[in-house]
Amino acid sequence: MSEPVIEVRHLSKSFGTHVVLRDVDFTVNAGDVTCIIGASGSGKSTLLRCINLLETPTNGKVLFHGSDITAKGSDPCAYRAKVGMVFQSFNLFNNMTVLDNCTAGLRYVLHQDKETAKKTALENLEKVGMAPYIHAKPRQLSGGQKQRVAIARALAMQPEVLLFDEPTSALDPQMVGEVLAVMRQLAKEGLTMIVVTHEMAFARDVSSHVVYMADGVICEEGTPADIFEHPQNAKTVEFLSRFRQA
Ligand SMILES: Nc1ncnc2c1ncn2[C@@H]1O[C@H](COP(=O)(O)OP(=O)(O)OP(=O)(O)O)[C@@H](O)[C@H]1O
Ligand SMILES: [Mg+2]
Repeated sequence: MSEPVIEVRHLSKSFGTHVVLRDVDFTVNAGDVTCIIGASGSGKSTLLRCINLLETPTNGKVLFHGSDITAKGSDPCAYRAKVGMVFQSFNLFNNMTVLDNCTAGLRYVLHQDKETAKKTALENLEKVGMAPYIHAKPRQLSGGQKQRVAIARALAMQPEVLLFDEPTSALDPQMVGEVLAVMRQLAKEGLTMIVVTHEMAFARDVSSHVVYMADGVICEEGTPADIFEHPQNAKTVEFLSRFRQA
C-alpha cells in the first residue's frame, strides 16, 4: 500500500482580489507520477509554487507525510531539501560551473564536506549524461544540457519528491526528448514526481495520475486512461481536442 506523501487540502490562493486557485485538493502517494495539465493561466505554476512554499497559500494547507508545512514554525529549507523543484528556465547559477551548481546545495544546505558533495554531484551528473561537462559554465551548454544539469542538481539533494514546472517548454524541439528521457527513467526508478506539462504524450504514457486544471480549480482528475480516453468533463474534452488537432 502506498502512503500519502503530499496532501494538498482545500488550497486557495489570491493575488489581491484575483483568485488564482480555489479549493484545490489532491493527494500524491509514494511513487506516483502526477501530471498537472491545463491551459495557460489556469494556476498550475502557482499551485506548484504553493507546494514548494515559494508562495504562501491564502487558505488551506499542504501536508508532507501528514505534517502541515504551511503552519507557522515549519522549516521551509528542510522541507525544500526533501521536495525539490525544476523550473522551466533552469535557474542555474550562471557564474558557477556545472559541478559547483550541483554541489552548492549539498555543501551549504546539507553541510556535506567538499569530497562527499563532489561524489554525490558526479553520480547524479553521470545519471543525466552530463558528467563530461563538470567544468563548463551554463552559458556554454544547450538548453537541454542545462535542464539535465538542473535535474542532476535537484537529484543530488536526494529528494523524496521532485516538482517540475514545464521543464521542456523553454527548449528547442530537438532537445525536448533528451530531458523527457531522463524524466521517464526517474519515473521508472520510482521517484515521486509532480510534473506540470504540455507534453500530452508524456502525461499519457508516464504518469500514474493526471490532474486537469481550468480557471484555478481541478476540473477533473484520474488515471491517464480516465482523462485521455474517457474524459467526463466538457472542458477536459475541449482542452484535449486542441492537442489532438495539433
Ligand atoms: N505573483 C503574482 N502576482 C499576481 N498575479 C499572479 C502572480 N503569479 C501568478 N499570477 C496570476 O495567476 C494566474 C495563474 O498563473 P500561473 O502562472 O499559475 O498559470 P499557469 O497555469 O502556470 O500558466 P502557464 O501555462 O502560462 O505557465 C495568472 O492570471 C497570473 O497572471
Ligand atoms: Mg506556468
